Amino acid sequence: MAERLICASDAVAERSLAYRFTAHYGGRERNAILIRFQHKVYAYINECAHVPIELDYNLGDVFDLSREYLICSTHGAYYNPSSGLCLGGPCAGRRLHALQVCEHDDAIWLIDDSAPPLIENEIFSKHG
Ligand code: FES
Repeated sequence: MAERLICASDAVAERSLAYRFTAHYGGRERNAILIRFQHKVYAYINECAHVPIELDYNLGDVFDLSREYLICSTHGAYYNPSSGLCLGGPCAGRRLHALQVCEHDDAIWLIDDSAPPLIENEIFSKHG
C-alpha cells in the first residue's frame, strides 16, 4: 500500500474546518474532507449519504454548532465524525464513504492502494 501526502498535521485542528483534498475513489477523482476529532484524523468522500452533494456549503465547515457531529448543510443529516454513520436526518443509518488515513512525521497521509509510492524528493517538494 502506498501513502500519499495530504497535508501537514497542523493544517487540521481539532473539531475545526475540514481540510479539503481530492482522492481517487470508485474509479474517479473525488472531493474529500479530512477532519480531526478526539485527537485522531478521519477522512471521508465529501458526499452526503442522502443526495450525492458536498456536505459543506461553506468550504470546510462540516461540524455542527456543538462540534460533536458532522452535518450536511443541505437537509441537516448529522454524522458520527469517527465512523461516518448518519445518526439522524433523511439518511439515518447510512454512512459517509471513509478513506484510510494515518498521521506520522508531522503530516497526514492517505493510504491509497491506487497510487504509486512517493519517493523522498517528491515528499519534500510537496511540503515545500
Ligand atoms: S443532501 Fe445531505 S441531508 Fe440531504
